Amino acid sequence: MSNGDVSQGRRRFLIGATSVVGGVGAVGAAVPFVASWNPSAKAEAAGAPVTVNVSKLEPGQQITVEWRGKPVWLIRRTEEMIANLTDMNERVKDPQSEEASQQPEYIRGETRSLKPELAVLVGICTHLGCVPSYRPEVAPEDLGADWLGGMFCPCHGSRYDMAGRVFKSQPAPLNLEVPPYRYDNDSTVTVGLDPEAA
Ligand code: FES
Repeated sequence: MSNGDVSQGRRRFLIGATSVVGGVGAVGAAVPFVASWNPSAKAEAAGAPVTVNVSKLEPGQQITVEWRGKPVWLIRRTEEMIANLTDMNERVKDPQSEEASQQPEYIRGETRSLKPELAVLVGICTHLGCVPSYRPEVAPEDLGADWLGGMFCPCHGSRYDMAGRVFKSQPAPLNLEVPPYRYDNDSTVTVGLDPEAA
């Protein structure tokens, strides 16, 4: 490194240090303002719960809603899909949903849902964040004879079953996330609220 490089590096550091000091000052000055400032309706809406009517969801059908900027899938599982989850236990990494980060504490076990027939999942791959494809069909040519339906991530090939449980030995390390949600009644589900919330 030449002397020129050293002094340039030093100047960069000084500029950086000055910016940090300036930044701290700015934050300090901003506090009284922030304290009296309410979030806009738009900002509130971005984190707001989303209520979905699931009464028209056909068996096997999947719909997507947006919650906190993320795609959330609601899937009406068929009897066969629910039965297949038990067969999948041997092939998935965390069959009983023990990794606490991936679902609320009231969601456990192989169905990963409040009611077996409805799956609610964040549609973001736990590898690097692509959106997996919904592939409910059994044994399609491209996914193989032992495919029982689930989600397939096109980015690096991670496979998930119909409860969003990741198969063993995939690039994705974790099951798909289950967001907090509750039933308001038999027809509607609210994503973003826990069952006990008022
Ligand atoms: S982002 Fe899904 S497998 Fe890599």
